[in-house]
Amino acid sequence: MSEPESSLSPSAQAEQVRADFAAEFGRLTETLAPGTGEAAEAQLRALVELRQRQTGKKSALAAVKKLIGRVAPEERAQFGQLVKEIEAEITRALSETETALTEQISAARIERERIDVTQPGRRPRQGHLHPLTLLRQKIEDIFVSLGYHIEDDREIETDYYNFDALNIPEGHPARASQDTFYTTDGFALRSQTSTIQIRAMERRGAPLRVIAPGRVFRRDTPDLTHTPMFHQLEGLCVERGITLEHLKGTMGEFVRRLFGPQTKTRFRPSYFPFTEPSGEFDYTCFKCDGTGFLNGDRCRPCKGSGWIELGGSGMVHPNVLRACGVDPEEFSGFAFGLGLERMCALLYTLDDIRHMFENDVRFLEQFN
Ligand code: FA5
Repeated sequence: MSEPESSLSPSAQAEQVRADFAAEFGRLTETLAPGTGEAAEAQLRALVELRQRQTGKKSALAAVKKLIGRVAPEERAQFGQLVKEIEAEITRALSETETALTEQISAARIERERIDVTQPGRRPRQGHLHPLTLLRQKIEDIFVSLGYHIEDDREIETDYYNFDALNIPEGHPARASQDTFYTTDGFALRSQTSTIQIRAMERRGAPLRVIAPGRVFRRDTPDLTHTPMFHQLEGLCVERGITLEHLKGTMGEFVRRLFGPQTKTRFRPSYFPFTEPSGEFDYTCFKCDGTGFLNGDRCRPCKGSGWIELGGSGMVHPNVLRACGVDPEEFSGFAFGLGLERMCALLYTLDDIRHMFENDVRFLEQFN
């Protein structure tokens, strides 16, 4: 399709191209004050469009370039020269502005991404030990000084270690699935650290003195004093001639070292399948010194009784010793198990043991 003939002479048409470019380019450059990088990017986009309009295939400039071949031969050199000049002017103006905008964009980017190496560094917040860990370490220190080793063992157990070897017969309520978590292939998540009694005796034989802190799992509904995962600390001492007096003496020494020399203990009969006789140990409240009252009010940790329950204990059942290849005629022993969360809650006067697992830094920061 041929282009419509212009009534203007070729030179006038070329001058028209120069003037149109100057007008449009002038409007663009008016807005070119040094600004933000974003403004420069917008201007660069506008410049690219302007270049396309003014110098592209369908531009007025392209049209006048086509005229070079059509003008009379004697005018061609001069006209060609004029068109070349105008094209060079347009190209120079566009590329100078493009360079300026690109520099502006890159300067803005450098400024945005600049790192002030002289700025003081941000100090990472220093962490600290969880209150349960602090308590566990205190207890470990006491028992290590009494000649105990620290044992650690698996949390997923077979029924044999979780129940049978601990003299917990088939049909005992603790074996029912409402108390114990089972994996799909029939393993039990240990429901007490007493499993380590068996593992430790199998591994070390007798005589031995061990404590074993660790996580245990029970299908208990979470409330102020229960969580389905909690920590126990097991103690086991098997030697020749061990009696209930050794158990009482050890528990007494332990609470005196943990809560102070005035602390007393008492032993209440209880039942555990793996100890005989069995008992619950209580100690005099560390807040009210066993009086049950604090500043005239009922003492909170011991609920006014003056006593706090420490955990279960007893003399290791002969069946348990036998299951581990230890001769009950030659050796005897005692064992005890403490619940760390409840001890920790009492120690720090916490009203809910669930706080210990919520990972709320405002709570945890208080135990520095
Ligand atoms: C036992 O688990 C025995 N293995 C203790 C033992 C060991 C007796 C050695 C004899 C010889 P018991 O079920 O009472 O006993 O649990 C011990 C402690 O675990 C409790 O005193 C309590 O402090 C804690 N405990 C029990 N259930 C929970 C729970 N759901 N959440 C937090 N603590 C718990």
